[in-house]
Amino acid sequence: MPKAKVFITHPLYPGARNLLQSCCECEFWSKQERPQREEFLGRLKDKNGLVCLLTERVGDDVLRAAPKLRIVANVAVGYDNVDLPACTKRAVVVTNTPGVLDETTADFAWALLLAVARRVVEADQYVRAGNWQGFDFDQFCGTDVWGKTLGIVGFGRIGRAVARRSAGFGMKVIYNSKTRASDEIEKEFRAEYRDLNALLAESDFVTLHVPLNGNTRQMFDAPKLFRMKPTAYLINTSRGPVVDEAALVHALESKKIAGAGLDVFEQEPFVHPGLKRPNVVLAPHLGSASNETRAKMATTAAQNAVAFFQGQRPPNMLNPEAFKNG
Ligand code: GLV
Repeated sequence: MPKAKVFITHPLYPGARNLLQSCCECEFWSKQERPQREEFLGRLKDKNGLVCLLTERVGDDVLRAAPKLRIVANVAVGYDNVDLPACTKRAVVVTNTPGVLDETTADFAWALLLAVARRVVEADQYVRAGNWQGFDFDQFCGTDVWGKTLGIVGFGRIGRAVARRSAGFGMKVIYNSKTRASDEIEKEFRAEYRDLNALLAESDFVTLHVPLNGNTRQMFDAPKLFRMKPTAYLINTSRGPVVDEAALVHALESKKIAGAGLDVFEQEPFVHPGLKRPNVVLAPHLGSASNETRAKMATTAAQNAVAFFQGQRPPNMLNPEAFKNG
């Protein structure tokens, strides 16, 4: 049997690379810049598999250009870059990488929260610029984190990992999610359910952990943002389009909220100029960016693709209805 041909849009990590090479004929994209669309489509012409990053959009044009494509293994937990119904229609299996990045992403949400509340970035820039004249009682006074109320929107694996960390800060935790968690889970995470409007009115920090889909796109529009306390901060490590960025800029400009920590943006890598303010900490989509976690994500994606080409069910299949064994 000829080996399956797979295009991988990144060199990945050695473990994942070796795994893929053990069963597939692999073509890796190793340039720093992402492949241009024409190049991407051209490379897929004769491929049976695609292992890709969240920067690659996989829609009808890809499926048309790649008639032999049978699996898309996304190296991310979010899969809003992939048109799942279109893939399912053409019996193309789609997989993602859940479970391996929860703790790392929760760490980063906390990094943004602490950085914006305690003005770490502003202070760093000030010291680096050589402006520091000595201890100043009034300088860079921020907002306390400990003892405050943390509002978690989306209470899946990552939201819960964020909640767990709040215990050390003695915070009250409230959450909102599509479905309410069981009493046991609420007890384990010391978290109380609120409807979204109540959560926004009560929280000192609102942190977003929902997937991007038809229900969550632009979920944080002007009316929602305006329900937050003027002293509250918004933290987003989920997906940019969950927040109406222009409305967020307006909320910041008009002091309807105190600040924001943002890892994701509506039109990455474009960042709305109105967000480049001292009370906003900006990061270039780094939630899962530790070496350990990125290696695990790469291996998970490779395992999904290899399982598929060995005739097994990939462990993280998003559209099982597209899977035809044999
Ligand atoms: C990162 O944003 C991911 O979805 O894995």
